[in-house]
Amino acid sequence: MDARFAETVEFLRARIPVPPVVGVILGSGLGDFAAAVEDRLEIPYAQIPGFPASAVVGHAGTLVAGTLAGVPIVVLSGRIHFYEGHPMPSVVTPARVLGLLGCRDVVVTNAAGGIDQSFSAGDLMLISDHINLFGTNPLIGPNDETFGARFPDMSDAYRSDLRTLAKAVARRVKVPLKEGVYVGVTGPSYETPAEIRAFRALGAHAVGMSTVPEVIALGHMGVGVVGVSCITNMAAGVLKQPLHHEEVLETTRRVKDRFVRLLTALVAAMGEGRSPDRLVVVPSRKASAGAGRAKAGAKPKPGSKAKARPKAAARRGATAKSSPRRKR
Ligand code: HPA
Repeated sequence: MDARFAETVEFLRARIPVPPVVGVILGSGLGDFAAAVEDRLEIPYAQIPGFPASAVVGHAGTLVAGTLAGVPIVVLSGRIHFYEGHPMPSVVTPARVLGLLGCRDVVVTNAAGGIDQSFSAGDLMLISDHINLFGTNPLIGPNDETFGARFPDMSDAYRSDLRTLAKAVARRVKVPLKEGVYVGVTGPSYETPAEIRAFRALGAHAVGMSTVPEVIALGHMGVGVVGVSCITNMAAGVLKQPLHHEEVLETTRRVKDRFVRLLTALVAAMGEGRSPDRLVVVPSRKASAGAGRAKAGAKPKPGSKAKARPKAAARRGATAKSSPRRKR
């Protein structure tokens, strides 16, 4: 493992009793989900060696480890934004750590402005894909081969089997779920109406200031991603009213119950490892955690798809113990 992460991961492994299978990254104002975690261990980012500190209102900056519906999870409540002035490697450090802790899949969530005119504030949108308009990429610089390939494939970044699962789960728990493309921008100023029209022409349905770097870093590590945006406001120029961060937080307060219901059911289904497309039976927590740990450092095979993953992951899990990178 890269020396930059060794201390962080050792610190967390020594404290988290069960290696996580699923990771969750919570967006602005969506921190309430963390309260649903059982047998909670909360560690403020400030106490985690190597973790950058987040100072945005609505971002608590706490790592929460525990279980949800019996699934071992780690929830990152509060994220590090590029607009705070952090360099890209710091922005993606928490996501990298989820992968290194063994998370097989990660749910990324965010607050976003609605570009699609059929959306309304309070809608939840499953992210089908993203457009990176950060003007940079977290993988710029020497490639860390222990994480993944120099030129990682992004064609299934928001994994289609997990999206199918999320849609099935949303129907089951009766939470309406839109679907669309998220465009990531640096912020911190909100967009102009002309930018929003341009993003709409590019095929974006929602806009936000996060998520894209983390999804690139997780994809690089071969970690499965499923993304949910909370449409907290209609984007600039859609409605004749100025945008305020307060509105973002107010909407997340309003949708919190629906959001927690959806995420809880989704994490439970992901932990079971079942999906209409991915008939995986996770043999045991221990084995699946081992597979996840191994996967984080494994290079995804070109063209390898979801159905091929469980076997490959199990194989890698079998060799994980002998890998010096994976030593605990
Ligand atoms: N633009 C960018 N980021 C956002 C928005 C928005 O309208 N709403 C919440 N995050």
